[in-house]
Amino acid sequence: MSTLPIPPITYDFSTLLSSAADSQFARQTGIAAADLQWLAPRLEMVRREVLADGELFRKGGPIPAEKQPLDAAFFDLPENFLGPDRKTLDGILATADRLAKEVDRVVVLGIGGSYMGARALMEGCCHPYHNELPRKRRGGRPRMYFEGNNVDNDAVQALLDLVEGDDDWAIIVISKSGGTLETAVAFRVFYETLKKSCQDDAEKLRRRIVPVTGETGKLRDLAKAIGCPTVFPIPDGVGGRFSILSAVGLLPAAVLGIDVVRLLEGAAAMNESFRTAAPLENPALAYAGISRLMEVRRGATTRILSTWGKGLESLGLWYDQLLAESLGKNGQGATPITVVNTRDLHSRGQQHQEGRRDKLITNVAVEKVNRTPIAIERSALDQDKLNELAGKTLPDVLRAAFEGTNQAYMDDFRRVAAIRLPLLDEGALGQLFQMLMIATVAEGRLVGINPYGQPGVEAYKNKMNAILRKW
Ligand code: PA5
Repeated sequence: MSTLPIPPITYDFSTLLSSAADSQFARQTGIAAADLQWLAPRLEMVRREVLADGELFRKGGPIPAEKQPLDAAFFDLPENFLGPDRKTLDGILATADRLAKEVDRVVVLGIGGSYMGARALMEGCCHPYHNELPRKRRGGRPRMYFEGNNVDNDAVQALLDLVEGDDDWAIIVISKSGGTLETAVAFRVFYETLKKSCQDDAEKLRRRIVPVTGETGKLRDLAKAIGCPTVFPIPDGVGGRFSILSAVGLLPAAVLGIDVVRLLEGAAAMNESFRTAAPLENPALAYAGISRLMEVRRGATTRILSTWGKGLESLGLWYDQLLAESLGKNGQGATPITVVNTRDLHSRGQQHQEGRRDKLITNVAVEKVNRTPIAIERSALDQDKLNELAGKTLPDVLRAAFEGTNQAYMDDFRRVAAIRLPLLDEGALGQLFQMLMIATVAEGRLVGINPYGQPGVEAYKNKMNAILRKW
């Protein structure tokens, strides 16, 4: 473990609590002491079940039929990479450094869980204009582009325009199954372009493609046929949307120069807190239980992740997928929505303040900015009347917006809670990703929905393939 302590992220639901002294409406929309008494022992049982699921993978025993599919191996990834599996992590770091030396652009191909985590890491940890910066200011790391996450001809063509004819780029292609059409089609297109770029240099071509895939499948076979020197596995028992802390998220992150060790340390710290903290002081367990309670007892069927910072938007989209694909089953599952404030106070804010009372708003707030605070300066042109705010900084304005928005919500019994990050960095994000993955699994176990697998997604895939082959 790192010598540097990891400042903990926290989950605060005190704003949801109501007492006997409150008005009837406050009690109807909030959480009472009796609710918490009901919840705590159930969360304790859930913790035991989630830990036992992880234990099944540690022992390598058979997975009981009623548990399948079971992708609980994500839980141990942080400790494994930092301990017994350090060699695999070193391999990821070495390949990332090699790519960073050899190329200036990396195209990451993947969709869903094979893409959203890497994107969230890039937006959360890198300079917001990373791709626009000169190489030196990127710390010598490559630019990164994401494709294969849609079927958009013009978007693909535009990225091809950017890389065609140059030989300073590489492909990381990520697909656990190896058979996802969007990613497979994009890989074929970009492979052909890269082949032309590398001209007759077959060795260079091989080194410029790094697949991340399951132990078997079409992409694994293709990698063998191409002769890729390095293929990173997505271990059995790690499902797509739970794979951010495997090579799926770590390799692109390491290429960008993100401190993946710190990220894993943050996640390991969250595991420790999940194992040991009392249920209602346990960020993952409490978040799962409180969110569920608000859904079933208070009708909060829409879950708003209200992020306060542009760097958190892709994290929110990653979470949208995690929640929707994991718990949107059997006619159940809250609807996830991500907002970025203050931007979305000017779009969705009206509805959140006065619309249907079906929402739980969980703020994701970062306590300290990473860069020098910008102050509002006194100006000779005061037509905008901003001189009275002179000296205040952008973080002051954001804090006022945060407090004002939440006071306004609470005055009308619009229900809010908060996840607080001391800083937007790898240590905090590692905790947050792991917290949200554990919470999603815990909630599934709490209500008897298997959080793993996504049988509903197969419906569109089957029909799309059938239609395409009929034409
Ligand atoms: O969570 C999941 O399993 C999915 O979102 C997958 O990640 C997504 O469908 C991509 O699958 P694959 O990695 O097999 O290409």
